Amino acid sequence: MHSTNIERREFLKAGATSAAAMLLTQNVPGQTPAGEGKPVRIGCVGAGRRGSSLLRNLVRMEGVEVVAICDIDPAAAAKAEQMVVKSGRKSPELYTNGEEDFRRLMDRPDLDAVIIATPWEWHTTMAVHAMKAGKYVGVEVPCAITIDECWQLVNTSEATGVPCMMLENWSFRRDNLAVLKMIRQGHFGEIVHCHCAHSHNCIHWYFDAQGRPRWSGNHLLKRNADQYPTHSLGPVLSWMDINCGDRFDTVVSMASRSLGIQDQLDRKHGKDHAPAKLPYKQGDIVTTMVRTSKGNTVVIAMDMQLPRPYDNRWQIQGTRGLYNEQRDAVFMADIPGKPETWEPFAPYQTQYEHSWWKSSGAAHGAGHGGTDAIELREFVRSVRSRTQTPIDVYDSVTMSVIFPLSEQSIAAGSAPVKCPDFTRGKWKTTRPKFAVET
Ligand SMILES: NC(=O)c1ccc[n+]([C@@H]2O[C@H](COP(=O)([O-])OP(=O)(O)OC[C@H]3O[C@@H](n4cnc5c(N)ncnc54)[C@H](O)[C@@H]3O)[C@@H](O)[C@H]2O)c1
Repeated sequence: MHSTNIERREFLKAGATSAAAMLLTQNVPGQTPAGEGKPVRIGCVGAGRRGSSLLRNLVRMEGVEVVAICDIDPAAAAKAEQMVVKSGRKSPELYTNGEEDFRRLMDRPDLDAVIIATPWEWHTTMAVHAMKAGKYVGVEVPCAITIDECWQLVNTSEATGVPCMMLENWSFRRDNLAVLKMIRQGHFGEIVHCHCAHSHNCIHWYFDAQGRPRWSGNHLLKRNADQYPTHSLGPVLSWMDINCGDRFDTVVSMASRSLGIQDQLDRKHGKDHAPAKLPYKQGDIVTTMVRTSKGNTVVIAMDMQLPRPYDNRWQIQGTRGLYNEQRDAVFMADIPGKPETWEPFAPYQTQYEHSWWKSSGAAHGAGHGGTDAIELREFVRSVRSRTQTPIDVYDSVTMSVIFPLSEQSIAAGSAPVKCPDFTRGKWKTTRPKFAVET
């Protein structure tokens, strides 16, 4: 292991200590801390597919009360209410009085936090209102869909001192956290490059059973971009010290032509199906390259409207080796007595298991292999102690901003575009804090 890695380990150790010290001394203003022994009181906005999946996790958690639910669809809200009641908890109050009724929920004085799982166009408006009302925010992906919205989230979180966490579950995946530990201990040397993807046929999510565009499908008509960059980038931010030693600097994107939507709709609904003939702007595969300030590179692939199995294709490459998620393998150079070849990841998973997963009783049977339960448990932990959330507002917007930046680059013939520095220079001195073990 070379000296930079040893320095990095020391840096991390110091970071963990000072971060822990900061957590002890700098509590977040707002409501009275829920405190140990007191329940954390949560309000949920959006009780559709994802909202109900998150709620299923929340009602399994001890010390959590879901006291309010908001959805413009009264049937969705009532179904969610039943989920809470069946878990043996008190019936939550429902807010179903139109698109702006979330404001009444967020203004309740008895809430500690809100979970937002609505269509994308509502995320920033809702998160900003919640922060101004002093409520911790857990907002679904992406948290913002324009550069201006990213700044609104950063500015509001800074002005109010209230944390805003995008609920990017893949940051908490078991294998990704073990890889993070290996990186931090220097096993892959100096990191130079990462590849990641969100390859997932989501035609069923963009269109309803009759093959008409849902709210998500309407974005395919209006925009040509990496519209879902955060699942790919979830682990990449911490793997590459983004916003804590490095930052995204330049973005270049290309989109293929758009054939998958029409073809899948034709095959399912017949040649005369009108929505198949709409002018979709979204290309089938968007490939984005990012250069960081340090000079490292990232390739992000988005592929969500062609038939294919789910795939993330994470690969992180350093000067001494690499991890490849698709192969479920690592390759490491210069290990005495070991040939330089692919090795199965399983023994490394055991050896570098992150502490979040060691006590993961909460994860069993929960969504996305247990990842959602870990993510929500860590969010609730920060609400209870009124400390910073594991994913802060800067990381949340850095993952989301690839949506509008890739759109700009594609529209300009794949021209390089600059990524805003949402930290305003703090990335140079901020130490890694996500999932740092003390
Ligand atoms: N993290 C993940 O793994 C994951 C998975 C799926 C979806 N998501 C994200 O979750 C979010 C929701 O997606 P979904 O699939 O649940 O969509 P959905 O359409 O099933 O649910 C959205 C719900 O929001 C409600 N709603 C719309 N406008 C509202 C408003 N103004 N006030 C209150 N309620 C409102 C709708 O009635 C609906 O019930 C999206 O941001 C999506 O990207 C994340």
